[in-house]
Amino acid sequence: MNKLNLSNIQKPIIEELSHFDSVFKNNLKSDVILVDLVARYIIKQKGKRIRPILVLLSAKLAGGITERSYRGAALVELLHTATLVHDDVVDGAEKRRSFPSINAIWKNKIAVLMGDYLLSRGLMIAVENNDFDFLKTITNTVKRMSEGELLQMSKTRKLNINEETYFRIISDKTASLLSTCCEIGALSSTNNADQISALKNFGEYLGLSFQIRDDILDYIGNSKIIGKNPGRDIKDKKITLPLIYALRNADKNESSKIIRYVKDGEKNKKVEEVIDFVKQNGGLEYAEKVAFEYSQKAKDSLKIFQSSESYTSLESLVDFVVSRKN
Ligand code: IPE
Ligand code: IPE
Ligand code: MG
Ligand code: MG
Repeated sequence: MNKLNLSNIQKPIIEELSHFDSVFKNNLKSDVILVDLVARYIIKQKGKRIRPILVLLSAKLAGGITERSYRGAALVELLHTATLVHDDVVDGAEKRRSFPSINAIWKNKIAVLMGDYLLSRGLMIAVENNDFDFLKTITNTVKRMSEGELLQMSKTRKLNINEETYFRIISDKTASLLSTCCEIGALSSTNNADQISALKNFGEYLGLSFQIRDDILDYIGNSKIIGKNPGRDIKDKKITLPLIYALRNADKNESSKIIRYVKDGEKNKKVEEVIDFVKQNGGLEYAEKVAFEYSQKAKDSLKIFQSSESYTSLESLVDFVVSRKN
């Protein structure tokens, strides 16, 4: 179990990660006081830094960390932060990383513009250094992430989501970026197409199990540990894998009743009942099983590499992702 905390996982890149922190910070300076204020608020609440960790470990595994790896790491973390700021507007979330969200403090208008600012600062890093291979992959990722969020929104209106659509949504909104992190890490250190593609697949599978775990945590997470309010998905009328499975498995009348509750959205007074329904109908066990299967696929994708410290860390990161509490 001890192997599974992030501080062990980041050991092979501990110094590189602190260099990343300063690159990240330097890219958020602005002479517009409001921008600088919000940026400093963001920097203070560090997330888990899983995406830069993925870039750096992938680079190290595929040949070695280069200057380009740091730019890639800063680019993906800026994009990730931008999407979180936007996502909290879209989801009406009041908490992120245990603190009030940007929209909760500065309101939606500022959050939307700040998200755009973060995204453009990320893209600028690549443009200024002629990293066109990064831009090619990241612009496609930005497109897929927006499509994923929009597809999810259209489904929450009609509440008619099946497993196939769920996987399309999580692949686009989450796995695409984790996959891109590994690809960018590989691109920064090797030209070997097989290695680049293996790491890309690794990131995709890791990303699917990452989002399934995120969706499980919305049912069972402790708000103090996850740093956001659980039950948010239900109030947002988001039907994720645990609920999809439970609805399919339960008695028809009971499922219709639960759907009616979810339709109430923000006014839903039966969130606890929906959670119990999911628990009683095996939704959480099923989602855990599926997340585990993808985690195995992720590990299998790494098999073309020789064993090394970074290899072991990437494997432990997979185990961390499917069992994480935050
Ligand atoms: C949260 O990502 C957004 C999802 C894709 C579910 P993380 O859990 O990696 O967020 P931070 O960066 O650690 O806060
Ligand atoms: C995460 O989506 C944000 C993106 C992947 C763009 P969610 O809305 O499911 O994640 P949390 O729970 O707010 O972090
Ligand atoms: Mg959200
Ligand atoms: Mg969302």
